[in-house]
Amino acid sequence: MASPAPPTSRKLVAIIPGDGIGPEVIAQATRVLEHYRDHRSFAIDLWHLDLGADRYLRTGVTFPPDVRDRIASEADAVLLRALGDPRVPGLEHARDILFGLRFGLDLYANVRPVRALSDRLVPLKGRTAADVDFVVFRENTEGLYAGVGGQFKRGTRDELAISEDVNTRKGVERLIRAGFEYATAHGKTRVHMADKSNAVRHAHELWYRVFFEVAADFPGIEARHLYVDAMALQMILDPRSFQVIVTCNLFGDILTDLGAGLQGGLGMAASANVHPRVDGCCDSDHGMSRVGLFEPVHGSAPPLAGKDVANPLASILTVGMLLSHLGWPDEERRLEALVIRAIEERRCTADVGGGLGTRAVGDWIVEELGRGA
Ligand code: IPM
Ligand code: MN
Repeated sequence: MASPAPPTSRKLVAIIPGDGIGPEVIAQATRVLEHYRDHRSFAIDLWHLDLGADRYLRTGVTFPPDVRDRIASEADAVLLRALGDPRVPGLEHARDILFGLRFGLDLYANVRPVRALSDRLVPLKGRTAADVDFVVFRENTEGLYAGVGGQFKRGTRDELAISEDVNTRKGVERLIRAGFEYATAHGKTRVHMADKSNAVRHAHELWYRVFFEVAADFPGIEARHLYVDAMALQMILDPRSFQVIVTCNLFGDILTDLGAGLQGGLGMAASANVHPRVDGCCDSDHGMSRVGLFEPVHGSAPPLAGKDVANPLASILTVGMLLSHLGWPDEERRLEALVIRAIEERRCTADVGGGLGTRAVGDWIVEELGRGA
């Protein structure tokens, strides 16, 4: 298949290194972007943002509105990782920044590939990398993450806490459609949906109903439903049965950590938060959706910070997704091929069987890119 023409306008990539191991791993991802900008003449501008626990502790501001607005109006992509710092036990900065971007930019699809890049990384007995190759479309703007609810009589013996599971027709439908459209575009034959409609009656009955309604528009694709508990089991017993999974926010969060376990751990899991355009759906164009937010799935891992041990490969794979979003899909494949070599040749960190530090892995990736790999 011919590659699309490269983008014609300059692209602005905002970089948020965040807390813990974030700055170390993002530094390697940034070097890759700099390589493309400086040695391959990609028209990319990098905008380094000072956002995270340090800034919050210094200024009392988590996510300044002017920064948020500039990202919304000018950036094409945001590269983020990782927020969470023991000095901010309530994690209010992490929520404000991460959810501020996901919700504020209406990035309704959290696309998380669960793809093992080497047999060696698959922890299941008798399974190979070929058995672990699917994509989770996690709803990213509502559900139990919507923050609707409250506490009553807090701190007393009578206290009450409620978090509502918010599911809108629009939110459910566009996510499910995005999953089916992805399947169609990528030659997949099956889409699974996980809900808990046997117990969470109202909200998940909506998922169940809309899933099969949307599936009717895609007759070439098999639609299968599983309760989420059964899906978790099947991901371990028969990961090969999955190609594309669509699910709600919380279940997607949990299933993709399980998925990360199948692909070699959190150091290997990449993700894209995007707003795909879907046909035939009640979606609105509010003019901000061209921005994508790209983050490795792993957290800030404070105990590992500053030790040069964190695996930067998830961040490198995430840069691949980012470049694809900007219009350079070949580079996603190129970076993935390099990551596969890094694993095979053990030019990687200890969590995936290598002996290198974070920076040395980045050195190797950038050198290989320079050699035209
Ligand atoms: C993730 C993370 C976040 C989430 C946390 C940090 C709020 O676990 O991106 O998977 O639950 O979405
Ligand atoms: Mn998570």
